[in-house]
Amino acid sequence: MSTAGKVAEDPGFRSGLEGVIVAETAISHVDGPNGRLLYRGGNSIESVVDRSYEDIVHLLLHGGFPEPQAATAFAARLAGGRPLNAAARAALEGLPCAAEPAAALRTILSAHGAARGVRAPDVPEALALTAVAPTAVAAFHRRRRGLPELEPRADLGHVANFLHLLHGEAPDPRQVRWLEAYFTVTADHALSPSTFTAQVVGSTGSDLTSAIVAAIGALKGPAHGGATTEATRMLDRVGDPANAEAFVLDLLARGGRLMGFGHREYRRYDPRARILAEVCREANPRYHAVAAAVEAVAERELAARHPDRPNLTNVDYFAGGVLSAVGIPDDEFVCVFAAARLVGWAAHVIEYVERGERIVSPASRWLGPDQEPGVRGATGRNGGFGC
Ligand code: CMC
Repeated sequence: MSTAGKVAEDPGFRSGLEGVIVAETAISHVDGPNGRLLYRGGNSIESVVDRSYEDIVHLLLHGGFPEPQAATAFAARLAGGRPLNAAARAALEGLPCAAEPAAALRTILSAHGAARGVRAPDVPEALALTAVAPTAVAAFHRRRRGLPELEPRADLGHVANFLHLLHGEAPDPRQVRWLEAYFTVTADHALSPSTFTAQVVGSTGSDLTSAIVAAIGALKGPAHGGATTEATRMLDRVGDPANAEAFVLDLLARGGRLMGFGHREYRRYDPRARILAEVCREANPRYHAVAAAVEAVAERELAARHPDRPNLTNVDYFAGGVLSAVGIPDDEFVCVFAAARLVGWAAHVIEYVERGERIVSPASRWLGPDQEPGVRGATGRNGGFGC
C-alpha cells in the first residue's frame, strides 16, 4: 500500500518517522534547512575539524574539551583500552576470511563485550568500546590477508595507532591528518538511523555492547553508512570525468539512485561533505576529479527532478576517496565509519538512560482483518469472510 494513502488517513503516521521528534538531546544537532551540524556546546563541525579525535570523544562524552593538563591523561586512558580481550581474539580466529567485514566487526565487538560482562551504559563502558573498535577493524583487515595481528602502540594517538594496526608501518602524518578529519566529522550525527537503533536498545535497559552491535547492523545498510562503499564503486564505474554526463543521465533514466546523494534532513549542502571534499581533493585527486564531474551533473539533474527537495551530496560521497587514500579497501569503509561513530552512539544511549527516559515503543496501524477468518460479519479493510 502506498504511504501517501496512509498519511492522508492518519496525520499521526509518518512514513520512515520523517519529521517525528522522538528524543531530546544536547549531544549534537543537525540543522538541515541551514546545512549546519553542531556538536555539544554548539560547536560547529567546521570549528572542531582540526581537533584530535580524542578531543572529540571527550567533548561528546563529557560535554567539553579536556583542559590541556587533563588531555594527556584522557588520551592515555583511551589508549589503555585498545587490546582485544581473549574472547574477542577467539571470535576473530573463528571467523572465515570471506566474512563480510562489518559482520566480523559486529562479532568481535560482541565477544569483547560479552567477556566484560553486562554493564549499564556509562562513560567507562563507552571509552572501552571506543578504544577497542579500531583494533577490531584492523585485526580482521589483517586476518583476511593472512597477516599477523599487530600490537597497539600506546605512544600514538587514536587515529595514528589505527593506521599502524592496519599497515604495520610508521603512519604518514598526512594520512593521519586526513583520517582524523574523517573520524572527527563522522563521530556523531544526532538521531541517525544507527544512533536511533542504539537508543532503542538502550531504552529497554539493555547494555551498551548490545546497543553498539545493533547500531553496526543499521549502519552497514547501503541507504546509511554502507553508501560510502556504494558511492565509491559507482565512481569506479564512471572511471573518467568525461563519462559523468552520460552515466548520470542513464542511471536516472533507469530509475536508479545516485549513491552519496540525498539526505533526510539536509536541504543545503551537508557540511561534512564540504569538509571531506577538500580533504579528498588533497588526498586523492583522481577520485576527486571523477566525483566532482559526477556531482556537477547530478546536482543539476536531481534539482530538475525535485526542485523543492535538493538531493545534494552527503557525507558518504567523498569519504571513500579519503578512506582509499589511507589504504582502506572499499568493503571495509563502513567498519571505519562504525569505529568513528561508536562514541556518538554511546553518548546518545548514556544521555537517554541517565535522564531516565521511557522505553521506545511506538505504535503501528493494523492492516489485517478485524476478525479471524471465517467469522461471520468480519469487516476488516481486506474484506470480510462472511456471506
Ligand atoms: N538519487 C536519486 N534520487 C533520489 C536520491 C538519490 N540519491 N535520493 C532521493 N531521491 C529522490 C527519491 O527517488 C524520491 O523521489 P520520488 O518522490 O519522486 O520517489 C525523493 O528524492 C525523496 O527520496 P526518499 O527516498 O523519500 O528520501 P528519504 O529521506 O527517505 O531517504 C536517503 C534519504 C539518504 C536514504 C536517500 O536520499 C538515498 O537513498 N540516498 C542514496 C543513498 C545514500 O547516499 N545514503 C547516505 C545517507 S547520508 C549519510 C549516512 O546516513 O550514512
